[in-house]
Order: sequence, then structure tokens, then C-alpha cells
Amino acid sequence: MTDLLKNFEGVIQPGSREARLISQLDSERIPKHVAIIMDGNGRWARQRDLPRVEGHRAGIESVKAAVEFSARLEIANLTLYAFSAENWKRPAEEVNTLWKLLRTYLRRELSTLKKHGIQFSAIGRISELPEHVQEELRVAERETIDNTRMHLIIALNYSGRLELVDAFNRIRQEGSPYPIGEEDIARTLYTAGLPDPDLLIRTSGEMRVSNFLLWQIAYSEIYVSEVLWPDFRGREFLEAIMAYQKR
Ligand code: FPP
Repeated sequence: MTDLLKNFEGVIQPGSREARLISQLDSERIPKHVAIIMDGNGRWARQRDLPRVEGHRAGIESVKAAVEFSARLEIANLTLYAFSAENWKRPAEEVNTLWKLLRTYLRRELSTLKKHGIQFSAIGRISELPEHVQEELRVAERETIDNTRMHLIIALNYSGRLELVDAFNRIRQEGSPYPIGEEDIARTLYTAGLPDPDLLIRTSGEMRVSNFLLWQIAYSEIYVSEVLWPDFRGREFLEAIMAYQKR
């Protein structure tokens, strides 16, 4: 049994709500894969009369919190839905700002990811992203490929249906004469090799799956938080893990 509180020494105030939540968690039943639909950045900004991009900027801090708390809780895999294939319909300025924020995040956080043994990968139709974004992703993937403590996966230009289309086409290209089995699909998905998510979190109260990991969430527990993504920090993350353990 790991003493999870030990992993938070120096970052969590003793006696705080966070500390109490951590001490109540069962270290033997930590999910192996948590997936998050990060929603509500726009609403968060609107509530403050700010441009939408300020919601995304604040959302980066929540990304950092989710990564840090996952690593300290020894969650092996964390997948974040950052840009859906439908998100191209947003104004070009907003889309460009998202790429800039992603670049800033990767540049600033790469050394932290490396220091803590976190592998980084991107999933989705990555070849359709601007070349400078692809290059940034390649660098982060290459430099973290040997890390084994945790795996951070960011879904970009991602669509669960297109992921299945891509998988079926890959299987067809292989030209196998045998009927397609579940294991053929699992091994040709972008998430090949990853366990399916035990827990899917969605923020900002929406009760939808929004084309995210359609195949992989067949048996996942779903936790919807009313909190908007920029306000979803360590405490809210711990509450989600606690709710999962109570099921
Ligand atoms: C959803 O809020 C959020 C997004 C589509 C983008 C999430 C991106 C980030 C947090 C920043 C970049 C990512 C990384 C991984 C560094 P919304 O705009 O749909 O909000 P709304 O539903 O309130 O309009």
C-alpha cells in the first residue's frame, strides 16, 4: 500500500480538504487511466467579460493541475481532449490561440514532464495540424519516449468516429483474410497499447460524450462535474477520483 499523502508532501497543506481527500483514497483502487473532456473555458471567460481565449489560458493551469495530481496519485495514464475535429469551425483567431497555448505549454512543461518521468503523446489526425504544431509534438514525443512513470496523452484534431474509420482502413490495408475481431480494432486505434479509461470526467455539467474515445469508454465510469474547466483544479480532481472509488 502506498501512502499517497507522502507523494503530496510540501504541496498540500496538512489538514486541508485536499489532504483529507487524499488520506481517504484507497491506493489499491487508483484508476489506471483517466480521460477528461475539458469543457467550459468559453463560459468561464464570458462570466468575467473576458475574451474566450482567456478561458483557454486559464484552462492551461487546470491542465497542469490534472497532470500533477495524476502523477502524484500514481495514475498511469491521463488523456485530455484538447481539440476536437469539429473545433476547426471556431473562429480562426481562437484556433490559432489554441495552437499558441499548446506550444507554450509544451515548451514550458517539457522539462517538468521529463523530470517526473512522464511520457507525452498526441492522438488524433495529427498530420492535418499546422506543420509547426506537428514539429512541436514530435519533439515532446521523442524526448519523453522512454519515460514510464506516467503517460500523458493529448487528443488533438480528434474524433472517435474518425478514429474507428482509420482503424478499419488500416485493417483493410493489412488485407487479412480472417474476420475482424475486437482485438484487431483495439490494436489499430490511436490508443493501441493503452488500457481503456476506467474513469471519464467531463466538466461544466454537460451530459454528452462528444465523440470522445467512443470504443474505449464502453465500460468507463462517467463523472460529470458542474465546475467549469478553468476552475477544475486539484481539489475537484480528487473529488472525481473519490466519487469513482465509491461506485
Ligand atoms: C473547452 O471549452 C475547451 C477547449 C475546446 C480547449 C481546451 C484547451 C486548453 C485547456 C488549452 C490547450 C490545451 C493543452 C493541452 C495545453 P469551450 O471553449 O468549449 O467552452 P464553452 O463550452 O464554455 O464555450
